[in-house]
Amino acid sequence: ATPLRIGVAGLGNVGATLVRILQKDAAELTKKLGRQIVVTAVAARSRSRDRGIDISGLDWFDDPVALAKSDGIDLFVELIGGEDGPAFAAVKAALEMGRPVVTANKALLAKHGVTLARMAEESGAQLGFEAAVAGGIPVIKTLREGLGSARIAKVYGIMNGTCNYILTRMGNEEISFAECLKDAQALGYAEADPTFDVEGFDTAHKLSILATLCFGYEIAPDKIHVEGISKITQHDIKVAADLGYKIKLLGIAQRSDDGIEQRVHPTFVPKGSAIAGVDGVMNAVALETDHVHELLLAGPGAGGPPTAASVMSDILDIARGTRVPPLGVPSEELLPFRQAPMRAH
Ligand code: HSE
Repeated sequence: ATPLRIGVAGLGNVGATLVRILQKDAAELTKKLGRQIVVTAVAARSRSRDRGIDISGLDWFDDPVALAKSDGIDLFVELIGGEDGPAFAAVKAALEMGRPVVTANKALLAKHGVTLARMAEESGAQLGFEAAVAGGIPVIKTLREGLGSARIAKVYGIMNGTCNYILTRMGNEEISFAECLKDAQALGYAEADPTFDVEGFDTAHKLSILATLCFGYEIAPDKIHVEGISKITQHDIKVAADLGYKIKLLGIAQRSDDGIEQRVHPTFVPKGSAIAGVDGVMNAVALETDHVHELLLAGPGAGGPPTAASVMSDILDIARGTRVPPLGVPSEELLPFRQAPMRAH
């Protein structure tokens, strides 16, 4: 079989980890797939930055759009980030040519996901985005392939590793919010602009992707009620603990009689509950359906290796020629939309 040639745009924490995995595991992957997977080209802002990987033999592009369109690749991996700008332009360029794309960019998908999914369906290109929600947890695969005809009534969970790491440490130690955030940044969990994490916007991006998949209705993140964790103090955490609760930042979307209700806010969860046991950088997504009742998927939600592993799972599907079922692009008329009222979980 012909090799699958990959172009990677964005060599931050996830991009560099992905290139390292692909180079290190090349022989094993070839044996497993009967096909070689090779990174042939990369695009990033700085060519000389030390990332602990050898990119000297790869084609270098300053412009991600030129990489996305290059003849030297079969699959475009977008790990640049950002909802517009070069990430959007490059993903669009690849999909328009019918070239498969794998992205971890939740902000991009939250804003343009339905447009991009339509584009992919028209050109017949695959669009993989497992890494965009809940890092290493195969939640997109579960929603697209795993639930059969089950009708989802509610999806909720811990979708930001940085916030969960901060809340967990503040619950275990006498440590300030600011100090925990600094550590989360050093560990490579936080966004380039950590406001997205701590003010809840990253969770809203992920929730809107999940809610769109669960309910078949395009849910824009700016329609979600969002409150982050930056005002949470040690005192709040202690009061919650005294009452038998932990504080978690949850994203919640559920069907109600008159539409889909969706919200992101710090929430009291009862100490013995499964979701309360999800600590540190872990994420968890709970799905309530008519057939399987409650399903809880938990695992590492941020950081280079788990996120790169999810990018890899999309790459392997494409290398094997597995056709993921179409996204079932939502119909705008399907359900009425109602801004979420504030309610306790
Ligand atoms: N900053 C994100 C988080 C990265 O902390 O969850 C994973 O999307």
